[in-house]
Amino acid sequence: LVKGEQLYEGKAKKIFATNNPDLVIIDYKDDATAFNGEKKGQIESKGVLNNSIATGLFELLEKKGIKTHFVAKLSDREMLCRKVSIVPLEVITRNVAAGSFSKRLAVAEGTALKTTVFEISYKDDALGDPLINDYHAVAIGAATWKELKTIYKMTDKINQILSAFFWDRGIKLIDFKLEFGKTADGAILLADEISPDTCRFWDAKTNEKLDKDRFRRDLGNVQEAYVEIFNRISK
Ligand code: C5P
Repeated sequence: LVKGEQLYEGKAKKIFATNNPDLVIIDYKDDATAFNGEKKGQIESKGVLNNSIATGLFELLEKKGIKTHFVAKLSDREMLCRKVSIVPLEVITRNVAAGSFSKRLAVAEGTALKTTVFEISYKDDALGDPLINDYHAVAIGAATWKELKTIYKMTDKINQILSAFFWDRGIKLIDFKLEFGKTADGAILLADEISPDTCRFWDAKTNEKLDKDRFRRDLGNVQEAYVEIFNRISK
């Protein structure tokens, strides 16, 4: 396998072509952003940690029957993945109130929810990733009804698998964001990453935050939180 030209540079990752048209290499950076790119910084070794964490979680999900873009971990910062076109939706699952849900609806962070909440946002930096509903998504051509059905079914299963996995390791999975991609033949795969950049993880005993909120809110010990998640999932 030969690493080719850079296809795309995102906020936390770069994507490279390979000599196989169906495969790309994802390179995890240390860059951290928040609030739609308004806050910028670096978290030392974040790329290495997130590549390892995402690898562990993709392997877990594949073992449980979820189709993902993950193929193999290639190096400290590089992951080999199936090439997909990203469905332009951020799919957010909330098990406990936090973040923008708490702010928008004035529900204290940490409040238990009477049902799991699934939200979708339209992936568009210029618009600030607006919260939309299923009708909006279909109306603008972001996804079809059938694709949404598949995405929600996969998301619910992923939530069950990850919530149980983290609970066994003393971590509450508060909420998380997923992205999905489509292969050339139309199959929907879990794509992007799953890491402390994209999930809220609270210590089950102390409720200490072990995720990117430490960066967003200047809580300190940011790298330590990522290392802690890495250590707990490596058990
Ligand atoms: O900010 P908000 O409460 O909507 O975030 C919900 C979840 O989605 C959090 O776990 C956050 O890390 C994740 N998220 C993300 N990328 C975004 C927005 C949210 O990974 N652009």
